[in-house]
Amino acid sequence: MLIFRMARNETRSSSCDPGLLKNIRWLLLSVFIAAPAFAAGADEVKPLRLCADPTNMPFSSDSPANQGLYLEIGQAVARELGRPVTYNWYKSYFGKRTVRETLLSNRCDAMVGLPLVDDFMGPAVIFSKPIATEGYGLVSLPGRKIASIDDLRGLRVAVQYESSPQNLLALHDDIEKMTVLSPDEGMKALDQGKVDVAFIWAPVAGWLNKTAYGDKYQIVPTEGDHLLWRTAIGFAKNSGELRDAVNAALPGLKSEIDGLFAKYGVPNVAPIKFGALDKPKMTLAAASDQSATASRPSTSDNRSERKASAGDAKEGREVFNGTCAHCHGPDAIQAERHIDLRLLKKRYGDNMQATFWKTVHEGRPSKGMPSWKGIFSDEDLKNVYAYLLTVQQDPNSTN
Ligand code: HEC
Repeated sequence: MLIFRMARNETRSSSCDPGLLKNIRWLLLSVFIAAPAFAAGADEVKPLRLCADPTNMPFSSDSPANQGLYLEIGQAVARELGRPVTYNWYKSYFGKRTVRETLLSNRCDAMVGLPLVDDFMGPAVIFSKPIATEGYGLVSLPGRKIASIDDLRGLRVAVQYESSPQNLLALHDDIEKMTVLSPDEGMKALDQGKVDVAFIWAPVAGWLNKTAYGDKYQIVPTEGDHLLWRTAIGFAKNSGELRDAVNAALPGLKSEIDGLFAKYGVPNVAPIKFGALDKPKMTLAAASDQSATASRPSTSDNRSERKASAGDAKEGREVFNGTCAHCHGPDAIQAERHIDLRLLKKRYGDNMQATFWKTVHEGRPSKGMPSWKGIFSDEDLKNVYAYLLTVQQDPNSTN
């Protein structure tokens, strides 16, 4: 699903911008969409336009060889509705921004796999019945019994950095934790015998298990605070009719959809209850949602004023955590110094602002820093800068 995805080191795709006609995909797509209208003008052949991430396996990809679970569910639904499918590709690591700029900008009719939670962009987005769950799972060699957290005592467990499992296990000293940055790294640690169990993002673990590890491992999905989410097909709020038609089609597709889970190795069995967090810590998404909501009533009066001058740090934090955090760390907490943005002041002093603007506008493509010009407005980036000012380390400190 969108907001919980780990990013990869990809530079941005020009598919974000339909104006970039040099992107062949867009040319093909517009021809495809236009053709039926010219040919027949008939409503019933109007394609179902799906928004999808071109590089988000096991859920979606633009490679015909590996289309992905959500893409194939979308295709099955369209077939059931008697409509052809077209795609609008957009990287999902932009989170809510992706939804805003695709689904809510009428670039597509449906988006498969949005998190079914009350505060996810409702009421702008409406949902189908649930189609899947996504969450963290326990990966281990088959036969290991893990029915509760007690079964992890004395074991070595890989957890993803800043994830709910990391928060959960942090409270248990008798479980030896190893922090990994991605599900891939967790699977590797498991395979190299460095850990007994990997407590990682289950859909990706399942896909890797299937494609890279010959289905060698069992994956037990877990349920508990911030461990599991239901996902559904999202529509813009004025698409109630389409949503109802999709809901009517879903029950007839159940066995086909179950088959697709198996095809992509995505766990589809009942999760084990893994307990609530003793001290619930907010997830990244929940935290930024909360701060955004909380800021609304209190700051709306002076917001425009502050925006015009120095930028709005709260809005900047939302952008930062939605996008920049994938590489620079949630709330800019980052152990690798060369991408630790809390050191900007210390590093550049009076040139901090100039360096910021040059870097975010032009990027450093050869080093893996994308250019954000055209993706974020200068207003957004000004807000991000305002946010970064609030997290700078004391330039005189010695570490
Ligand atoms: C895909 C990973 C990635 C994303 C996403 C990303 N960055 Fe970066 N960024 C990098 C890397 C890698 C560097 C270090 C480049 C180098 O070594 O010079 C960098 C460097 C920077 C620097 C300069 C740091 C310095 O000390 O010179 C700034 C400022 C920056 N990024 C801001 C942002 C902002 C703002 C966003 C979100 C809009 C963002 N980045 C998103 C990868 C990323």
